[in-house]
Formats: sequence, structure tokens, C-alpha cells
Amino acid sequence: MKTINLKYIANHLPKTDDPYLHLMSKEEVTIARNFHRSFPQYKETPLQDLKKMAEYLGVGRICVKDESWRYGLNSFKVLGGAYSIAKYLAKEMGRDIKDLPYSVLKSEEFRKELGSATFISATDGNHGRGVAWTARELGQRCIILMPKGTSQSRFDNIKALGAEVTIEDLNYDECVRKASTLADQYEHGVIVQDTSWEGYEDIPLWIMQGYAVMADEAAEQYGERPTHVFVQAGVGAMAGSAVGYFASLYPDNPPKMIVVEPNKADCMFRGAQRGDGEKVVVTGDMDSIMAGLACGEPCELGWDLFKNHATGFVSADDLMTCRGMRMLAANFKEDPHIVSGESGAATFGAFASIMLEDSLKDVRDELELGPDSKVLFFSTEGDTDPVRWKNIIWEGVDYR
Ligand SMILES: Cc1ncc(COP(=O)(O)O)c(C=O)c1O
Repeated sequence: MKTINLKYIANHLPKTDDPYLHLMSKEEVTIARNFHRSFPQYKETPLQDLKKMAEYLGVGRICVKDESWRYGLNSFKVLGGAYSIAKYLAKEMGRDIKDLPYSVLKSEEFRKELGSATFISATDGNHGRGVAWTARELGQRCIILMPKGTSQSRFDNIKALGAEVTIEDLNYDECVRKASTLADQYEHGVIVQDTSWEGYEDIPLWIMQGYAVMADEAAEQYGERPTHVFVQAGVGAMAGSAVGYFASLYPDNPPKMIVVEPNKADCMFRGAQRGDGEKVVVTGDMDSIMAGLACGEPCELGWDLFKNHATGFVSADDLMTCRGMRMLAANFKEDPHIVSGESGAATFGAFASIMLEDSLKDVRDELELGPDSKVLFFSTEGDTDPVRWKNIIWEGVDYR
């Protein structure tokens, strides 16, 4: 077995007043879920129970939420993009989100009332695809900035939705800054970004509430309390939404929640190492194949939720996700196979490594992973870069 470079650190960060937890409650998330239910494309994505794999890895249960089936967009991200745009419009027009279901948003009257808007976003691919899809549904303009190194297929997917897309000579965090200045240059320009900064917190919060629909579906489908939830983080909005959701669902007995990052962009892990609660920003190219996780600046809301509720943080090289992608795709014959992309399979790869590698026994023991464990994963994307997916799965190409 190839040896992975994986590090784990337990969360000893100072606790805060936990101001965001109630915003990820079942009650709040149900509002977002009802909004999504109004879309004709909405369908719960499958939660796959990998029984043989659980036996093989020595745990009681392994379930993987397969987001490759979300809205035909191959990732969960539209859950946040669409909800945040609707919440923004509701606020701007003095309406309640409950009065803005899909049928109203799509109506001619609504379009006339709204006039024209330009939605702008920086993205590694999946978030922009969700924003572009929503803008197209609403008949509005969309401008998307992508970081250098973006793959052609991720660019093409967004372009096909009618957005104006560019690949910038900038990293992800720099693209976010550029997008935020661009918004001022357009009449009715709206920046739709999943990372929060001072003075820009509404939209990221709504994005997280939209993402939490995924956790809400999974909790229901799981049918019992998972003992461990592994979540992958880029800026930490998605992971923060799941951590907040499960912490508020099981206030007395929350699952152990483990945040997983690529070691090239492990801002949460480094923040945990630093230990005083301040954020750590990772800069540079962050050239991980886990494109969706290659973000160096933690989002404020996610970071705060991690401080209060994460059990620990994993940082590992790209081999982690290559392993996860292969194990999910080429599964035991009794288990359903899952097409999971580079950012989608990171957590499963981390977990499988922790269970299989002798050198990681300490981590396994510290996390109390064993026959009684019931583990939940989110495969947050399918083969959003199909060429690389084939290279890894079919050609056996490894990345470090
Ligand atoms: C497939 C996928 N998974 C996970 C994430 C991480 O989400 P966040 O940046 O909110 O941490 C992303 C972000 O783009 C993604 O595209």
C-alpha cells in the first residue's frame, strides 16, 4: 500500500459565543429545503450505504451522500447559490423567501419587477456553475472569474450555461477580491460569494443554509445518529454548514466531526496548529488536484463553527483523494459504486487511510473509530473534470 502523508490535529481552539449555531438549525435549514423543494429539478440525492466496505474497513456503517446527482450539475453547490440569490432578492424586494418559490421567480411579472441584475462570482468551478445556472433560470446576466489552472471542462460547463467566464492569472482568493471590486462597476451588480468578510456576511450565511439542505437530507436518510461525520473544506462554508447542522441537531451528543483539507491549502489545520483562535491564511498557488478545496482563506462563519464544534482537522496530500476516488468507483460488488471527483472523495480517502495504514493507528484510536462507528461522508462532486477522473481511475495516475 502506498503511504500517504496525512496529519491529524485535535481541536483545542478556544470556544466563542457560538453566534452562528442557531442559524444552521433544522428549523432554519427547513426553510432552505422548502425553497429547493419548489424547483421541478429538486430531488434528494442518494445516500449510499456501503455495507461491504464497512466490513472491510472495520466499522459498523459507512454512508456516502452522492452529490453527483444534484440538479444534473454534478455537485452540491447549486444548493447554496440558488438559495442565496433568492434570499438576496427577497430582502431587496421586501418579500419573504416563502413567497418566492421557483414558479414566482420564473414568472414574467417577477422579472419585470426585478429589472436586470448581474450576478458575479469567483469560483473553482462548482459554485460558479450553480450561480450561472440560477442566473440563467432567472433570465439574468452572470459573470464568473476562475483561477489559473482551471480545467477546460470546468470552464466549458459554466460557459454552456450562458455566463461570461474568464480564467484569470490569479489564485482563488485573489479572484474573490477581484470579483468583489467588479460588482461595483455594474448597475445592480451582485457578488455571490461563499466566503464571508467583514461587512459581507448575509450571502455567505444564506449559501451555508442552502448547503445545509444536503446535511438535512443525509440526516433523515441515515435514520440514526452517525457517530462520525467527515467533511472536506475549501473556505469552510460547506463543512461549516454540516458541522453546525449536526451540532445543533444533536446538542447533547454530537457526532465527532472531522474537517479534511489538502495539505497545499490547509488553512483550518494550520489555524488549529496555531491554536489561539486566529485564522491562518495560506497563500501561493495551492496546486492541489482537489480544486474545490484549494482555498487558503477560511470563511468567518465556518471557522467559528469549527472552533466550537469540530473534533479535529486532517491535512493530507493528493494521494488521499486518488485513493478515495478509486475505492468509491471500484467498490465491492455488493456495494453501489460512486463516481466521486477530486474534492468529493477527499474525506473517504482520508478515512480509508486512517483505517488501513499502520502508521495512522494513533489517529484511528484517538477518533475511536471501530466496529461501533457509524460514519457519514459527503461525496460533494462527481467527475466534474472527466479527463482527470479517467486518468486517476482508469489509467491509475497518482497525484501527490
Ligand atoms: C466539490 C466541492 N466540495 C467541497 C467544496 C468545499 O466547500 P467550501 O469552499 O465551502 O469549503 C467545494 C468548493 O468549491 C467543492 O467544489
